[in-house]
This record gives sequence, C-alpha cells and structure tokens, in this order.
Amino acid sequence: MRILVSGAAGKLGSRLIKQLRRNHEAFGADVLGNVEYFLDIEDYDACCSLVNSLAPTIVLHTAAWTDVNGCALDPARALRVNGVGTHNMAACCATSGIPMLYVSTNEVFDGARRHPYREYDRPNPQNAYGHSKWHGERALLQINPRHYIVRTAWLFAHGGGNFIQAILAAAKAGKPLRVVTNEIANPTYTSDLAEAIARLIATERFGTYHLVNQGAVSRWGFARYVLDSAGFSDTPIEPITRQQWQRPSLPPEYTALENIEASSLAINLRPWQEGVDAFLKAEGFCL
Ligand SMILES: NC(=O)c1ccc[n+]([C@@H]2O[C@H](COP(=O)([O-])OP(=O)(O)OC[C@H]3O[C@@H](n4cnc5c(N)ncnc54)[C@H](OP(=O)(O)O)[C@@H]3O)[C@@H](O)[C@H]2O)c1
Repeated sequence: MRILVSGAAGKLGSRLIKQLRRNHEAFGADVLGNVEYFLDIEDYDACCSLVNSLAPTIVLHTAAWTDVNGCALDPARALRVNGVGTHNMAACCATSGIPMLYVSTNEVFDGARRHPYREYDRPNPQNAYGHSKWHGERALLQINPRHYIVRTAWLFAHGGGNFIQAILAAAKAGKPLRVVTNEIANPTYTSDLAEAIARLIATERFGTYHLVNQGAVSRWGFARYVLDSAGFSDTPIEPITRQQWQRPSLPPEYTALENIEASSLAINLRPWQEGVDAFLKAEGFCL
C-alpha cells in the first residue's frame, strides 16, 4: 500500500511511519519536524493537493492539537485544527475515493460510567479537546463511508514528553510526586497501537474501533507501576484527587475503553503492564 500519515512528527505518527515501512510505502506530513511533506491541515487546498499528488491507498490522520489545556484556553483553535482540519482531510479523501483512518480519543466520552466504554456508546465530550475530536469524528462519518475511527487513550512513546518520562524524571531528581487517583483509563504503548493499526487497515472492515492496551488503571496506579518496575519502589507518591489538581482542562473521570470490534478481527493489544515493561526495557531499564 501507499500510505500518507498526517502528524508524522508526533508520538504516534512517527511510530506509524516506522511500523508501516516494514511492508508498505509510507509518506509523512506535518507542520514541523523531519518529515517528507509540510502540511497544515487547516489549509483545505493544501490537503487536497497533497492527497491528489501522492494518490495514496489510504490516509492515516493522526495530526491534531493535543495540548488539552491549550485547547481549553483557545477552544476556537481546537475546533479549527481537530474539527475542521479533520473535515478538510476527510473531504479530500472522499472526493478522490480514498479511505481514511482518523485517530480519536477516550475524551469524547463523559467519564460518568464505571465500566469500560464500547465502540457504540454515545460520546458526550466534557472539555474543548474532547469536543473538537468528536467534531472530527462526525465530519469523517458524514463525508467518507470508507473510514476507520480509532479511539485510543493515554499514549506513551519513546522520545520524551509524556507521562512515564515525566514521572521518572521527577523521581530521579528527588522531586515530591503528587498524582491523581480518580482519573482512570488505559495506558497505551504507541508501538502496540501502530502494529494494531497496520493490521486493521489490511482488513478493509471500515468502522469505529477502540484500540488500547488491555486493562484500566488510575494515573496514581500507573505511576506506581512505572516507579516500582524501574527501580524506584522507595519513592513515595502522594495520592490526590483530580479536584486537588486544578488545570484549565479537567479530564473526564473514568474513560477506560473496551476493544470489542477489533477483538472480533483477532486484533488484541497486550495488557498495559506488559506494554510498560516492553517500553522500559527498550529505554534501557533492567526489569
Ligand atoms: N497522546 C495521547 O495520550 C492521545 C490519547 C488519545 C488520542 N490521541 C490522539 O492520537 C493522535 C496522535 O497523538 P500524539 O500523542 O501522537 O500527538 P502529537 O505527538 O501531539 O502529534 C500530533 C502532530 O500533529 C501536528 N499538528 C498540529 N497541528 C497541525 C496542523 N494544523 N497541521 C498538521 N499537523 C499538525 C503536531 O505538531 P505540533 O507538535 O507542532 O503541534 C504533532 O506533530 C492525535 O489525533 C490525538 O488526538 C492521543
């Protein structure tokens, strides 16, 4: 397949490019970074011009404004990038008859439940980021029947800038750690997700999927597991509630996802603890 990946400089996009190049031709586009093509997804003509000139077999759309606090402070920009940007890409693909996969988020759900959300549970986003991503989902649903919507959660990736690295850096520096106990979801390793996406697009079974590492945990439990596994079991973590950690964007409380649809295609991600172990080993920790 010839595959165009938007957001190719990001955590998931860069991993997808590596994964896909094992068996396919993959091209990366982003607003920044070391990728083949510059593309601002807010620019409809630029999206169509790239899609038409490359004529890919499929477009994997991972580009997004993922700064959830930034989205809360500037919801109009969140909608422009995550909503209209996705609409642009969906329209270009639909016009050229090209399938598209859109990566969405557990934050489209309201978090009021206490059992995992399935693919066809009704989204009800509670913050600007979730709202903008849900807008992107609806645009794709309405415009291009040949689509995959893949919701995922709490990505961790090599290269820095996410939860595991932040927790380990604080522990190494001897900084006090306070982590929230009542935010619950599925930590997901980008390597596992990229592999699952590569398998999914080979099926041509279009639809909505939840692709996360199996099992759910609180932010506190996630941090505890990381520290215990990486040799920092003596480092204390003060448990706090989400209400005690004020941020511009309050995440939903419980947004664990369940993978029903991909499971029926025998696409299953391993338990999150095994994903964390693999990540730490690859980062050079002896477990
Ligand atoms: N990270 C998570 O925990 C998580 C959880 C659930 C779902 N997701 C979804 O998964 C996808 C990938 O997430 P990620 O963590 O890999 O995100 P990421 O690392 O922030 O990558 C997204 C990429 O898109 C780029 N981008 C931003 N605005 C753009 C624009 N107007 N045109 C083109 N590219 C633009 C970003 O550039 P800049 O860095 O310059 O902004 C970045 O390189 C996103 O759709 C996200 O919503 C992520």
